[in-house]
Amino acid sequence: MKALETKILKNKVPNHVAIIMDGNGRWAKLKNKPRVFGHKNGVNSVRETIEGCRELGIKYLTLYAFSTENWNRPKLEVKTLMSLLVSSLKKELKSLLENNIKLITIGNLNDLPKSARKELTEVIEKTKNNTALTLTLALSYGSRDEIVNVIKNISKKVVNNELQIEEINENIINNHLYTFSLPDVDFLIRTSGEKRISNFLLWQIAYAELYFTNTLWPDFKKENLFNAILEYQNRERRFGKTSEQIEKINE
Ligand code: IPE
Ligand code: IPE
Ligand code: MG
Repeated sequence: MKALETKILKNKVPNHVAIIMDGNGRWAKLKNKPRVFGHKNGVNSVRETIEGCRELGIKYLTLYAFSTENWNRPKLEVKTLMSLLVSSLKKELKSLLENNIKLITIGNLNDLPKSARKELTEVIEKTKNNTALTLTLALSYGSRDEIVNVIKNISKKVVNNELQIEEINENIINNHLYTFSLPDVDFLIRTSGEKRISNFLLWQIAYAELYFTNTLWPDFKKENLFNAILEYQNRERRFGKTSEQIEKINE
């Protein structure tokens, strides 16, 4: 494990890692347990991943915790996920403070139960001056919903003459997304073997490197994260240029 970590070039870690944490239900099913048992164990993987990111010096970690579509799951599962959110926030606040981690959220927070909103507001406020890692929880988040909101808000400004149509550019759009304070995603990880995006950060992953692993989320540990980062460091990000051009820049 230590050996694995030393292989990682600390000056070349992705600035922003985003994760679609998938496979909790299947993990539980394999153990003949109810789905919520998988969610409970998934929390340990969240902790390990945050720790791993801190150790590597990754500055932004964004976790897909609950999608707009997940509201359609059985009532009891939704309820358990929400109470798990509240209890985890309560438990982890101390460690977030000790480790200089700032918590923010993206998504439609108004949809969340009051208890969750209250806990989130408190943790966000208490960690707002932290600087080592920005941990973003995507809660009741859907990328299409986000884009609809962007269009509404920009349109309002145009109608009110606060913004001219000619002024609309990629920057303006970025500034109206839930993720306005975050840089583009460099590395997107999805666990559980599914190879899809499921309405996550469609605009923000335009040039992200994608990584799919069969590991189910509750089994995803620091070692898995480190292996993923090692693969990232072996990729060549060309951003439309040629390999020769990129090699020149890196010389
Ligand atoms: C991811 O695991 C957690 C959430 C979407 C909240 P799943 O609950 O989707 O697990 P699978 O995909 O059914 O195994
Ligand atoms: C995506 O996982 C959402 C989260 C991880 C929170 P899902 O399990 O809901 O995705 P689909 O519906 O199988 O694509
Ligand atoms: Mg799933």
